[in-house]
Amino acid sequence: MIEPNQFRTVLGSFPTGVCVITASDDAGGRHGLVVGSFSSISLDPPLVGFFPDKRSSSWPAIERTGRFCVNVLGSDQLELCKRFAAKSDDKFAELAHGHTPSGQPRLDEAIAWIDCAIERVVEIGDHWLVVGHVEALDKREAGTPLVFYRGAYHDLACLTD
Ligand SMILES: Cc1cc2nc3c(=O)[nH]c(=O)nc-3n(C[C@H](O)[C@H](O)[C@H](O)COP(=O)(O)O)c2cc1C
Repeated sequence: MIEPNQFRTVLGSFPTGVCVITASDDAGGRHGLVVGSFSSISLDPPLVGFFPDKRSSSWPAIERTGRFCVNVLGSDQLELCKRFAAKSDDKFAELAHGHTPSGQPRLDEAIAWIDCAIERVVEIGDHWLVVGHVEALDKREAGTPLVFYRGAYHDLACLTD
């Protein structure tokens, strides 16, 4: 039997980037949640994925749109991370942002964005595995990523320059 706290603390030793998954619905509603579980999956076809918790209230609203945008947060976007990781009726209140070619919210200053159509959603334990087909993407030249490791946020140190 794996003890839940030990699972969390040991798995927290694997550092992750931090992304905000966003989508807009036809009624103008905007939805978003923070994930550390984002990953590149396949180049041909171009696929990416992440794992939303079954308890997420934002994920079902995003799933209904059939699309999502991955916004990779920079280390100067900690406040934005906290906003999208907290449950709230309007996480976008007073937040200016751009749009992806398909019309999804694109967070200003994110270091990269990836615009996707939902390809597949698979039930896995207490999470979903969401696979997205990449339709457009771009990155900023400047900026360093926000990193989550052992319950705290970090900046990245480069060892090879
Ligand atoms: C660094 C970090 C990484 C997270 N990674 C995930 C994740 O991969 N999947 C997930 O469902 N929730 C993850 N969360 C928690 C969600 O962001 C949070 O539960 C969610 O935004 C709650 O709001 P919702 O009910 O509107 O979805 C993470 C939170 C933080 C701070």
